[in-house]
Amino acid sequence: MKTLRLTSESSSELSQAARILQAGGLVAVPTETVYGLAADAADEKAVSAIFTAKGRPSDHPLIVHVSGVDQLAQWATDIPAEAYLLAEAFWPGPLTLLLKKHPQVSSVVTGGLDTIGLRNPAHPVLLGLLKKAQLGVAAPSANPYKKLSPTTADQVYASLSGKVDAVLDGGPCAVGIESTIVDLSTGNATVLRPGPITAAQMTEVLGQSVTTPTEHTVAVPGNVEAHYQPGKPLCLMTTEQLKEQITDRDSEVACVYYSQSLADSMNTQDIKMPKDKASYAQALYDTLYQLDQSEGKEIWLELPPVGEAWSDVHDRLKRAGRFWS
Ligand code: TXA
Ligand code: MG
Repeated sequence: MKTLRLTSESSSELSQAARILQAGGLVAVPTETVYGLAADAADEKAVSAIFTAKGRPSDHPLIVHVSGVDQLAQWATDIPAEAYLLAEAFWPGPLTLLLKKHPQVSSVVTGGLDTIGLRNPAHPVLLGLLKKAQLGVAAPSANPYKKLSPTTADQVYASLSGKVDAVLDGGPCAVGIESTIVDLSTGNATVLRPGPITAAQMTEVLGQSVTTPTEHTVAVPGNVEAHYQPGKPLCLMTTEQLKEQITDRDSEVACVYYSQSLADSMNTQDIKMPKDKASYAQALYDTLYQLDQSEGKEIWLELPPVGEAWSDVHDRLKRAGRFWS
């Protein structure tokens, strides 16, 4: 299969992307979080093709992306008031609501579960595409199974060229880390995947406590321990550990750090990360991707600050690498 590269700057190419989706094809699309691999969520065959292209097990549920809160009732049933409050506060944006699935939604999308993840993405290109094509799209991150999520169209093209119909370029992703997933299907709002919207922000909107289980008691297929992984070993170190080890590292090791106190020990291949959380998250996957392409054999990463605002970054890092010991 030849993979088309489409630019969102051309309205005829955007229309072409819409036609491909309507015809049951696969289009990698920009979102504000990471690029997604989209197919018409109402077309079982198209949705199945997503799993094949990614090499993803078919029991791992997909998120359906919709053009607005008015679409909720088309995909979900028994929708609690909390869903509308959160949608009102954070949509369009990096928040996925887990709700009871509408009986008419194919279980191919939900990996056989009776719940569905729904998100209204805050990317003008994708929103325009959803409106033009007049459909909801199932879209996991546009990476091969377990690999780093892509934040540019070039990264998608490098890994999925030949496996999807088109890659729609909408520029680099502004948020850079996957959406928060909050489960509203059980009565107690619970965070299943930490993300850019924090439990504290949702607690404030709902006026009731939104909890984040430290260990997941329910095994959700797809919520796996080893994930978001670069191709070479990623070693996670505290600032102190990195300070100690840095003196006798070999030249095959590249470092990712943020503390100014480490700067003097760093070389040209090392990457200094921004200090503020939003910029750090935006740069994270791209940084790991760049180092993965470079010649070194191993990546050492200084663990960023702890605290609720950073919980999504820590969640992804612990799945992407292993702690120094
Ligand atoms: O920001 C995002 O959410 C990106 C962009 C493309 O929208 N999408 C994304 O999708 O990260 P994916 O498939 O890579 O990750 C979705 C996660 C998976 O871990 C999956 O198991 C979980 O969401 N998930 C989806 N539907 C679910 C459901 N019904 N029940 C439990 N977990 C669900
Ligand atoms: Mg993913």
